[in-house]
Amino acid sequence: MEQNGIVFVWYHADDAEPTYEIPKLEGVDDPAWRPLEVHYWRMRARWLDMNENCVDAAHFKYVHGVLTIPTSTVHEEGHVFSVTSRFTQKAPGDSTAEGELTTTEYGPGFQHVSQGGVIDSLLMNTATPIDEEYTDVSFAYSVKTEGDPRKEKLATKVVADLVRQFENDKPIWENKACWRRPRLCDGDGPVTQYRRWYQQFF
Ligand SMILES: [Fe+2]
Repeated sequence: MEQNGIVFVWYHADDAEPTYEIPKLEGVDDPAWRPLEVHYWRMRARWLDMNENCVDAAHFKYVHGVLTIPTSTVHEEGHVFSVTSRFTQKAPGDSTAEGELTTTEYGPGFQHVSQGGVIDSLLMNTATPIDEEYTDVSFAYSVKTEGDPRKEKLATKVVADLVRQFENDKPIWENKACWRRPRLCDGDGPVTQYRRWYQQFF
């Protein structure tokens, strides 16, 4: 199907028909939002290692520089997994602002991240494994500017910052080991719940 400017292809090992569709996302093809800006990477990492970033609460502070370790609220229903992280972040000047980031996955291959706070932004992650070691990643970014020139200026910085944040995650994803039974503590976020949900597709 074609949705959100992307062609999605369904694959099932037993040739079964698709069991869900990808919804139209708020902010895509909307004149209040900037046209999608797409960035590509080839990563030596697996789907799970990258996708479970969304439930890795502590890394938002130590890798991405938010000021607090976020709280995570999960909503899970069939093929959809959604987690909202709330945190305090730096804002223009020397001020701080409350930020909120929601990652929603529709199956294992499509991830939508929407971020609120100083300005609204979204990203669509359509990472595709190409062999046992490598994954082709494309991230499509947009920011809600509503034609406001000040927001346009800020939007350029926001996208550059989001791309830089990907580069911060990259060496970790390319070098981490995937442990089947990781030793987790309270601050690690809902990793076990995420992996249990993810398991249904494999
Ligand atoms: Fe990250």
